[in-house]
Amino acid sequence: MPQIDVLIIGSGAAALSAAFFLPANIRVALVSKPRRLGCNTEFAQGGIACAIDENDIESHIADTLKAGAGRCDAEAAKILATKGFSLMKTLADMGAPLDRDENGAPLRAREAAHSKPRVLRAGGDQTGAIIGEFLLERVNHPICFGEIVDLLIDGGRCYGATIDEDGKRENIYAHNVVIASGGFGALYDVTTNPPAILGELQGIAALRGRKLSDMHFTQFHPTALDMDGAAQKPLLSEALRGEGAKIVDENNRRFLEDYGENELSPRDRLSRAIFAHIESSGRAYLDLSGFDSRYFAARFPVANRQLTLFGLKPPFRKAPIAPAFHYAMGGIAVDKNARVLGLRGLYAIGEAACTGAHGANRLASNSLLEALVFGKIAADTIANDPNANPAKTFGVLDEPRLGKDDDEVLSTIKKTLGRRAGVIRERASLKQAAAILDALTDREIGLLTRRSLRTAQAIVESAIEAEESVGAHYVKEESL
Ligand code: SIN
Repeated sequence: MPQIDVLIIGSGAAALSAAFFLPANIRVALVSKPRRLGCNTEFAQGGIACAIDENDIESHIADTLKAGAGRCDAEAAKILATKGFSLMKTLADMGAPLDRDENGAPLRAREAAHSKPRVLRAGGDQTGAIIGEFLLERVNHPICFGEIVDLLIDGGRCYGATIDEDGKRENIYAHNVVIASGGFGALYDVTTNPPAILGELQGIAALRGRKLSDMHFTQFHPTALDMDGAAQKPLLSEALRGEGAKIVDENNRRFLEDYGENELSPRDRLSRAIFAHIESSGRAYLDLSGFDSRYFAARFPVANRQLTLFGLKPPFRKAPIAPAFHYAMGGIAVDKNARVLGLRGLYAIGEAACTGAHGANRLASNSLLEALVFGKIAADTIANDPNANPAKTFGVLDEPRLGKDDDEVLSTIKKTLGRRAGVIRERASLKQAAAILDALTDREIGLLTRRSLRTAQAIVESAIEAEESVGAHYVKEESL
């Protein structure tokens, strides 16, 4: 029975950070969905929030807590800002290609709900892709592609995971398993996430008795490009508003004032204002006319490409926008060392995990930071406390990976969550969503869809249980 020390599930920033910081003498393997299916790190435009200097750490923590609407775990937020500051210094010293000014100082972008410009970027709005590549080039462990279909759990320990590679299934035994598989954004019909982000690992964890926390805190990005076509909506980064882009209506009126908001309000409040405006009176736009087109192309190459692809050629005037599902604050409950609660040998990091650092509404650009910081924390914890599982083997799960109703069920999940567990929620509608999702469990679905369905159910159950509207979970008053 081949056994490795650490199995990392995922290939985004959290997975690569864990892999990079594990000591060289530890036997590590990564398993990921094929990279062509995309992961959120590749699409992370905004950057990496990081204190400007040691004196700014308290302010970064304060901004994180404020955006989190009183629901952050203050200790996790402190770890994020403090360790994030030293980690980014380490990466910069190693040559991470951060954008810099003519004197070599890192450029800092302003994003919503930050009290000052502190967001580091790489290649303009290509930060996630560039930092991901930087780490990938430095990780020497093998990566194999396939789907994780189960975790091998028994008697309070995790012994590994079952991988399915195009129908060929096997158990991988590992003393430690690190879940870094991302969130569940593609379970929503309108999302900035790539289609592979279907939350299967959260579903597996729940089905295996692990706690999922804060699943109803789902963040909608206020300014996704609202064009017909693919479900994955291109992002128009916060940084555009940080540099002066305005939100307007058909008549170029800045309607946010009607809602008591402005372009740099926290995402939850801004998304609600834009959503309510679109529902009541039509369309919302991001006015980009203040940008010089050459500057725009250099500073925002991804947005420039996307806008051009959708026929909005420079010089841009205004781009149609709408909120889209963007980030899961909730996930697999972990402690401050990234350990999954109540199990030996299982860790969760990045968007798959819930550290509590983001509370009810994540501060812009804190997600890549969290992925990097808690990836390192998991690596350090494993290095300092290597788990050694007793010898044990498991049969290989033989339930079919796919089922004939998969496509239809997935499409129902997406529509149900989008319409009933979206930006603005209603109690009755959430209960209907629970009934719709429960009925789907009887359909002929494969085990991957069954895991996604469990995650979708957890989102709705958590929203129903929540007693008050706070942060990204907003239930219309009259339905309370
Ligand atoms: C953005 O660039 O607006 C997204 C950054 C983030 O999600 O934090």
